[in-house]
Amino acid sequence: MVIYNDRGNFPYPFKGKSFRYTNNSVLLDPPSSIECTDYYEREVQIKRKLLEEHPERCYQSLPNTMDAQWEALALVADNLTTYFPEKFSLLKEGRNWSFSNKVMNEHHSFIFGDDSSFPVEPLDFIGRHVQEDLILMVQKDGELFLDAGQLCFPANWSLAFNLGMSFKELHHPIPGFKDNDLVDRIQAFILKIEDGAPWVRTNWQMTAGHRLDTPLETFHDWGKARKQVTKDNAGELVHIRVEVQKLFRLPRTHSILFSIHTHLLSLEAFSGNVEWAKQFTAILEELPSYIYEYKGIALYREAVIDYLNERIRE
Ligand code: HEM
Repeated sequence: MVIYNDRGNFPYPFKGKSFRYTNNSVLLDPPSSIECTDYYEREVQIKRKLLEEHPERCYQSLPNTMDAQWEALALVADNLTTYFPEKFSLLKEGRNWSFSNKVMNEHHSFIFGDDSSFPVEPLDFIGRHVQEDLILMVQKDGELFLDAGQLCFPANWSLAFNLGMSFKELHHPIPGFKDNDLVDRIQAFILKIEDGAPWVRTNWQMTAGHRLDTPLETFHDWGKARKQVTKDNAGELVHIRVEVQKLFRLPRTHSILFSIHTHLLSLEAFSGNVEWAKQFTAILEELPSYIYEYKGIALYREAVIDYLNERIRE
């Protein structure tokens, strides 16, 4: 159970007075796939518990991904030690590597590229040391395919169901995406991403409750809270959910590593910033029904608007 009560480091995603689906990616600076927040230890423990209890829901891979998985491990481990040297270290002697996670007090020695190094696959191993979900998109014949992933905190989708799907198939459920070629344009953009020049974007949602793990498979558990939202409980019950999504080219296998860092902030804490509350209210009021229905907020959008307006008046 994760509740964020403060606004520290919250990746505020809104611009302007309306929201539409666009390619909102920008170049990533500094180019790190990983961010460690104050919730590192707690979230890594939640991820590991989910992976133990629901392995098929949280980890999937196809056999053609082992080289790309090792490349992803190397990139993430290098980023961890470069950007958080007080928390992680990595020693390399040829293919003999030694990785230390000082926060979790763990040390792992392994042979880089040797699939028998860990009891789990390399992507699964490195994913257990970061708050991010990690997805590998393999490039074949000018298209991208979701061929491996460690996904503990999905926003209402299923890794097991989506394994092996193309970028276009993955985005098929999103209204308006295929009508105006947006999905083709976004894929064309990703295909041009170069090694050393990663990109980042945010995606926002709202969630009734404070769970990071909201997979399609357990919708019957967490989805019903949507019906319980009222103007009076929205501040505590509803959370703004922002995913910081990063795209890295892996040069040897030419695959794409897609990292997703999910942040939750209660509506109460969010609306403590009155400018945020005003801007988000304007966006929610203007939001077309096809977007709020897809995002699953139709049942409680008005209760949230009423709550925000009351906070703004205070
Ligand atoms: C390359 C890695 C990516 C993967 C694996 C991925 C996967 C997904 C999945 C599984 C969904 C949920 C679809 C459903 O409802 O079943 C989704 C939603 C979406 N994706 Fe992607 N995506 C990727 C990159 C991108 C990029 C680069 C963009 C835009 C530039 C993008 C834009 C969107 C949007 C706008 C949504 C709808 C989200 C919402 O309204 O909350 N995706 N994506």
